[in-house]
Amino acid sequence: MSDNCELRTLHCELFFYNQKHMIRFFTAGESHGEVLIALVSGLPAGVPVDLDSINRELWRRQQGYGRGGRMKIETDKAHIVSGVRHGKTIGSPVAIELANRDWKNWEEKLPVETGDAAKHQAVNSPRPGHADLAGALKYNFPDARYVLERASARETTARVAAGALAKLLLRTLGIEVLSHVIRVGRAELERAAEWEEIAALAGKDEVVLGCVDAEAEARMKEEVEEAARTGDTVGGIFEVVAHGVPAGLGSHVNWDEKLDGLLAAAVMSIQAVKAVEIGRGVVAAERFGSAVHDPIRYAAEDTGRPTRFTRPTNNAGGLEGGVSNGEDIVVRGYLKPISTLRKPLESVRFDTREATSASYERSDICVAPAAGVVGEAMVALTLAAAVVQKFGGDSVVEMKRNFRGYIEQIRSY
Ligand SMILES: Cc1cc2nc3c(=O)[nH]c(=O)nc-3n(C[C@H](O)[C@H](O)[C@H](O)COP(=O)(O)O)c2cc1C
Repeated sequence: MSDNCELRTLHCELFFYNQKHMIRFFTAGESHGEVLIALVSGLPAGVPVDLDSINRELWRRQQGYGRGGRMKIETDKAHIVSGVRHGKTIGSPVAIELANRDWKNWEEKLPVETGDAAKHQAVNSPRPGHADLAGALKYNFPDARYVLERASARETTARVAAGALAKLLLRTLGIEVLSHVIRVGRAELERAAEWEEIAALAGKDEVVLGCVDAEAEARMKEEVEEAARTGDTVGGIFEVVAHGVPAGLGSHVNWDEKLDGLLAAAVMSIQAVKAVEIGRGVVAAERFGSAVHDPIRYAAEDTGRPTRFTRPTNNAGGLEGGVSNGEDIVVRGYLKPISTLRKPLESVRFDTREATSASYERSDICVAPAAGVVGEAMVALTLAAAVVQKFGGDSVVEMKRNFRGYIEQIRSY
């Protein structure tokens, strides 16, 4: 075998080895198709899975002031078809099916087989800000229907189901991931939120705008009301916090192993997220270093945390050098306003090239709290992948043993 061939074989072996020791997930399904699918591979055996907690996450994604009519039609429930037996993962891929109740209204408009072309519901005027025009050009579709069917954030239902599994894995190691909303349009939460407040928010059975502060939330609500009144939409910022993450996840050694980069890509991939901030990354750019970096202290007493190194502040958002540093991981997603406007912007018809107004289909006005729940899912999946990579193991028992050994190591450092 030539050197080149040996190298290629080694590369292949490493590639397949890596594939076996990582969490991967896929989603499938279109907005008005029959079902959505979440497929998660790489979870160790023995993760306790309860449907209620997955359904609770799905419910949380459907909430928020300013959501459109679709959320009134759907009541998302997870139907697990593989990978879980007797309430625990068994190491094989977990497939979750999520029904689209709206399918009954679309069966003839979007059939799998050829169907009746006269019943096809074309989207002829691409919406500025949506995937309509770019997608139709790219895939050579005569209109934007097939593009928006998949670009739509209905897909995030499947991400949230996959993320719920990741959360259950992380919980076995004492790691929790939650979110809250810190801005809607011009209305901002003007103080830091405590972890306990964010946790209390997640337990509520009524979600307005997912803000920990009633006064700030009332101002946020006014922004949504103004947008609703004027046929407009409004963006915002959600903050995802991962609590209980030990120092040492991710790596500084290669660009594609840096946990801040992986988290940024995961959150940026969410529909309508146009910027991602780690910790106070945005304001840090306009401040001196002395006002930004979190001083390092050493606790005289063992506080029960995995390390006695402490920080009085967490501007770094729990990440330094692409590695978790033991503080809460804080990732913010900046949302543009939704692009389907009741008072539509200028567009051009696909079929005639005539100037027209962009298409309008029943739509959300503000999605900040829901996007926060999707952000939690993406952060949880990214952290679960980092955990599996660092602690390995085919079962939760094995992983926890490795985890405990590592925690002992850093505690006695
Ligand atoms: C939870 C959630 C719900 C959304 N609902 C809508 C909606 O009702 N109408 C709409 O036009 N866009 C909605 N979006 C945003 C679009 O899916 C998104 O803007 C579009 O796919 C284009 O992708 P991009 O904004 O990432 O470039 C939603 C996004 C999220 C996160």
